[in-house]
Amino acid sequence: MNSILDGRHDLKREIDAVAEVAGYLWTKGWAERNGGNITVNVTDVIDDDIRKMPAISAPVSIGVELPLLKGKYFYCKGTNRRMRDLARKPMENGSIIRILDDCSHYEIVGDMPVKPTSELPSHLSVHNYLIGKGSDYKASVHTHPIELIAMSHNPKFLKKDVLSKLLWSMIPETKAFCPRGLGIVPYMLPSSVELADATIKALDEDYDVVMWEKHGVFAVGPDVMEAFDMIDTLSKSAIIYRDACSMGFIPDGMTDEQMREMSAAFNLPK
Ligand code: 13P
Ligand code: ZN
Repeated sequence: MNSILDGRHDLKREIDAVAEVAGYLWTKGWAERNGGNITVNVTDVIDDDIRKMPAISAPVSIGVELPLLKGKYFYCKGTNRRMRDLARKPMENGSIIRILDDCSHYEIVGDMPVKPTSELPSHLSVHNYLIGKGSDYKASVHTHPIELIAMSHNPKFLKKDVLSKLLWSMIPETKAFCPRGLGIVPYMLPSSVELADATIKALDEDYDVVMWEKHGVFAVGPDVMEAFDMIDTLSKSAIIYRDACSMGFIPDGMTDEQMREMSAAFNLPK
């Protein structure tokens, strides 16, 4: 079967990276059944032939109007599709969509009419927000990391920056590679426009990764691998915390002085 990726090396590289990350999410145990979703703004690697391609679906409403997405293209995981399947066959478990001129509908251009993720309102609202602020971020990843979700079941971790500080203090790398920490979005109905709005509000407080209480995390990054790495780093800290607790003690964490020393040495925010 012909694919929109045939002969398009730059576009294929983007989709291959999504497939690689999807495999990691499954292997980590963060992607039960169809859990999680990935979207990537691939507009920069779309050529004129794709722009002229007829759609393979009717226009579908996004549910929100996103003025900065006019004519933009996204690879989206399909709704109800498994990450473990996407890892092997990304164009059978996801699709490339084009945003129509009214900025509130999309159509699918390839390879198959795979309906995008139910979290499309959040993903596309975030892409619209990123473009608006002049960001070069192109990828957003939502996944269900067990150890981070478990922590979100304790209200004391949901107060602003309590969890960021705790996770940073578990191992120096966490602040180095996730210097903005973890924002908190209170529980909201999955796939709702309210969740999309709350996610943007949290990202706007200058986070790259936000926790969706009792559901999962949502990360943005310049590419899909960087977004994954931030979640992976935070998750590593959560596992260290959990393992210490299961050994029968609450871990001390690095001291404030050690955190200050590290932030100064590596030029990280205070
Ligand atoms: P989709 O299968 O629609 O992507 O939904 C998975 C999910 O994690 C919803 O939050
Ligand atoms: Zn989810």
